[in-house]
Amino acid sequence: MKGIILAGGHSTRLYPVTRSISKQLLGVYDKPMVYYPLTTLMMAGVTEFLIITRPDESELFKRLLGDGSHWGLSIVYAIQDQPRGLADAFIVGEKFVDGDPVALILGDNIFYGEGLRQIIRQPSEQADGACVFAYYVNDPERYGVVDFDTDGRVLNLEEKPKVPKSSYAVTGLYFYDSQVCDIVKDLEPSARGELEITSVNNVYLDAGQLRVEVFGRGIAWLDTGTHKALLDASNFVATIEHRQGLKIACPEEIAYRLGLIDEEQLLHLAHAMAATEYAEYLTRLVQQERRYLSF
Ligand code: TTP
Repeated sequence: MKGIILAGGHSTRLYPVTRSISKQLLGVYDKPMVYYPLTTLMMAGVTEFLIITRPDESELFKRLLGDGSHWGLSIVYAIQDQPRGLADAFIVGEKFVDGDPVALILGDNIFYGEGLRQIIRQPSEQADGACVFAYYVNDPERYGVVDFDTDGRVLNLEEKPKVPKSSYAVTGLYFYDSQVCDIVKDLEPSARGELEITSVNNVYLDAGQLRVEVFGRGIAWLDTGTHKALLDASNFVATIEHRQGLKIACPEEIAYRLGLIDEEQLLHLAHAMAATEYAEYLTRLVQQERRYLSF
């Protein structure tokens, strides 16, 4: 399965911080925001990535992530000239997708928690239909909302409803089969002028091909679109990392543990991080028993 990270958009809610740089390049505690969605998809088994950026930022992302080979990945880039909506990822990314199943993750979404890897591995191994994740939130009206019947069957999906039928928001992580690019081509922009991902999910729902998995209370889903949310996410990561001495969303560690890079490559990457705590962490990984580093 291939993976797309949607890292364009105007990030207007973070102005003036994002007047000159988009949020996905800002730090969330000790690493750039884009590392979090990248590593989520790595844990789902993705090694081939497309990163979609604003026209003026492609070079900055390339400077940060390169072609991915140092992490055992392949990373290519595409430009979205205007934020036309989340589903536009499959128009911009059609050539990359090239008829394969594909995962989409929003560049400002952070997922963390026990068992996450097992939950997201499953849909990445399934070739047919679509799978999205629902999460109980305080403010469902800001998201796509999914309503279930008493047996847990999906009744409907609505984009930013004024009166939500449930408290379950659809998170920014989506798995689709090879039909997705054709489905998006037939979509009309919504009233707010965007190609809505909820419309894509509704096509799968109507065809009886949508699975909605619920992320339980033990999973954290954070988005980082406002100053408060960004600070909260940084504090969350800092708290866990300090307590455990283990990093969240460290691509070098995950690449090493997945066997995408070997010890020598890891030490080389550590060396490039200069005299930092991050470099020390990477160096320590090769000395520790892997079983203590579960993620
Ligand atoms: P949003 O938070 O909906 O939009 P935004 O990031 O531009 O922020 P703001 O509302 O503050 O102006 O986007 C969610 C994620 O999807 C974010 O990582 C940006 C990305 N995105 C795109 O790359 N292209 C798009 O067309 C849209 C709508 C979002």
